[in-house]
Amino acid sequence: MKIIFSLVFLFIAGCAATIIYRSKGEELYYNKCGGCHRIHSKTEFTSEKWKSEVEEMSKKARLNEDEKRMIIEYLTNDSLHVAKP
Ligand code: HEC
Repeated sequence: MKIIFSLVFLFIAGCAATIIYRSKGEELYYNKCGGCHRIHSKTEFTSEKWKSEVEEMSKKARLNEDEKRMIIEYLTNDSLHVAKP
């Protein structure tokens, strides 16, 4: 019986560890921008608006230039808007 519990536990732990982000920008966005408020959907703002929002928020989130660029890339990538499951 114990072994079953161990297996179930390993299965659940394994699932939790495999959150797969589709890009580095997406990972950064979820990790850096979700701490203070909800994660805004990509489709909520236009690309122009996102650029200025991330610019503004980069101070709060303490992003470096690379992180800022990757997050903007992720948020303004139109092909992913459509592909969202
Ligand atoms: C240290 C906390 C903090 C972090 C980290 C943070 N934000 Fe914010 N964010 C806020 C606060 C507080 C507000 C609302 C007040 C304001 O606009 O300054 C806000 C507002 C916003 C808004 C405006 C929402 C609206 O309805 O107009 C957007 C968009 C946003 N944040 C995106 C981001 C993004 C993208 C990141 C990551 C780069 C980020 N935030 C990281 C605290 C944070």
